[in-house]
Amino acid sequence: MLDKNTFSLSARKTCLANDIPLNVIPGISKNNSSFMHMLSKKALDIATPYLQEEKLILEQLMENNPKTRDMNFCVIGAGPLFYFSTGIRYANNYIAVEPHINQFVNSSYVETLMLDSKVTVFPQYFEEFCKKAAKKESSAQNTLYVFWFNVINYIESPIRFLNKILKKGDIVFISGWSDSSYAKKNIEKYFECINEFKSEYNLPTLPSLQGINVTDLNYFYENQVFLGKTTEIWIVST
Ligand SMILES: C[S@@+](CC[C@H](N)C(=O)[O-])C[C@H]1O[C@@H](n2cnc3c(N)ncnc32)[C@H](O)[C@@H]1O
Repeated sequence: MLDKNTFSLSARKTCLANDIPLNVIPGISKNNSSFMHMLSKKALDIATPYLQEEKLILEQLMENNPKTRDMNFCVIGAGPLFYFSTGIRYANNYIAVEPHINQFVNSSYVETLMLDSKVTVFPQYFEEFCKKAAKKESSAQNTLYVFWFNVINYIESPIRFLNKILKKGDIVFISGWSDSSYAKKNIEKYFECINEFKSEYNLPTLPSLQGINVTDLNYFYENQVFLGKTTEIWIVST
C-alpha cells in the first residue's frame, strides 16, 4: 500500500507541475462515454484557446481576491481532477464533483489522494451532491464553485440546485463558449473531433450562457462578465 505522506508529497509535486496531474484517461474507443471523448487529449488540444482563457481569469480572480484563498475550492464536472493544481496552490484545498470519476482516474488513485484531508472527491452528479449537501449541516467556510468548460449547460436547473447549498459570501465561477465567430469555429472543430469517435453528438443547442439567470441565486450581489475570444465567463458574488 502507498504510504500517505510519500504519496501526497509526490502527488502534490506532480500536481503543481502539471494541470492534468492524474491524466490516465484510457485510449479513446467507441465504447467510451461521450464525456470521455469530450475530455480526451485530442479534444482538449483543440479547446486549448478556451482553456487558456478560462484558467487565466480563474487564477486572476484568486490572485486579486484574497478572500478566495480561505474558501473551499469546488470544481463541478471536474473530469480527471481538473484544476487540482490551482486549488492546492491558491486555496490549499480541492473538492471535485464528478459522476464519472472512475472512468477518468483509477479508483485507488482517488482513494489515496483522499487520504489527504485537503482533497475530497464526490463521485456524483451535481444535482445529487446538492441534495445530499443540503441535508447536512454546512461548514462555516465559504465556497468558490467552479463550473468550468461549459459544464453548466449539462445541468438541468443549475440555479435551483445551487440555491440548495449557496451561502452568503460564496462565489460562483461559470464558464461557457462565447458568441464570437472565432469561438464558433473552435466549437465546431471541437465537436467534429468528438464525432470522429461516435457520430452522435450535436452542437449543444445552448452553447452559451443565455438562459441562466444568476440574478435568481440566493444572496445575489453582482455578476462580473468577461467576454474573451473563445469564452464567456461570469463571476457571481453573493
Ligand atoms: C460537461 S463535460 C464538458 C462539456 C464540453 N466541454 C462542451 O463544451 O460541451 C465535462 C464534465 O462534466 C461532467 N458532468 C456532466 N454532467 C454533470 C452533472 N450533472 N454534474 C456534474 N458533472 C457533470 C462530465 O462527467 C464531464 O466529466
